[in-house]
Amino acid sequence: MPDFKGLDLTGKTAIVTGASRGIGAAIAIQLGQRGANVVVNYTNDKSERKATEVVNKIEAAGSRATLCQASVANVNDIPKIVDAALRLSQTGKIDILIHNAALGVDANLEDVTQELFQTHFDTNVKGPIFLTKAVIRHISRGGRVVFVSSAAARLGVAGQTVYGATKAANESCARVWAKELGQSHGITVNCVNPGPVATDQWQESDEQFRQDMQPLIESTPAAARIAEVDDIAPLVAFLCSEDARWTTGSVLCANGGLYN
Ligand SMILES: NC(=O)c1ccc[n+]([C@@H]2O[C@H](COP(=O)([O-])OP(=O)(O)OC[C@H]3O[C@@H](n4cnc5c(N)ncnc54)[C@H](OP(=O)(O)O)[C@@H]3O)[C@@H](O)[C@H]2O)c1
Repeated sequence: MPDFKGLDLTGKTAIVTGASRGIGAAIAIQLGQRGANVVVNYTNDKSERKATEVVNKIEAAGSRATLCQASVANVNDIPKIVDAALRLSQTGKIDILIHNAALGVDANLEDVTQELFQTHFDTNVKGPIFLTKAVIRHISRGGRVVFVSSAAARLGVAGQTVYGATKAANESCARVWAKELGQSHGITVNCVNPGPVATDQWQESDEQFRQDMQPLIESTPAAARIAEVDDIAPLVAFLCSEDARWTTGSVLCANGGLYN
């Protein structure tokens, strides 16, 4: 009989930021289906219904889940996320932290404003740094931190000065924390780097940007199509598993081979 216990997440406690929609929702459901209890974080009042649907799907799979409305960009909200995880945890520990929430508004360099810079760095960089700092004192040995980065971190996509820089910062954090928190805390820290994925962030991006990306999408080695959220979520779940214990500080290709 095959033994896939190394992929099992039963009883683990996970935080997924930005889990009301898109890639984050798919990750939260995937972790729940593999047995993890999940904090489903979101920020906007309008997303409560969608976030509740994610919680319902996780509970239907037999795991526990809780909603947590909090902005990762606001350091005062961070304890809410940590407390929600500790309430959900059956061991008093947090096992999995997925940094998925991010802003991704495109702007050519000439159009970059201080506000765009600040909101993106607050959400995409400051949030993960201070959330990790708050979680780390509760993390279990064997714990996992995964960033949802982007191919934009290294691909050099026109219009992504700020967004690309935030994602490059995430990948840098993963490499630093793999060393700083590896032996000391017994955890791994990794990234996945999707290319275009059919989510709200993609649909809401500039029409011209989407047209410009079409040739790139059609050149995707794995298949000439945009990714779906379920192309990404299993890769994140794998990085959260015991089987992934020897992978840390890495960026796992999650873009069909567009960029590695
Ligand atoms: N879609 C793509 O093509 C693509 C490609 C590469 C990488 N990525 C990355 O994948 C991740 C998810 O992207 P997506 O396309 O699924 O995004 P999305 O559909 O726009 O969803 C964003 C999620 O993040 C949440 N969020 C936004 N700001 C937040 C904050 N301050 N605090 C907490 N939650 C916040 C949103 O919550 P509300 O519902 O409450 O607003 C929502 O759940 C991001 O890191 C993104 O950079 C996406």
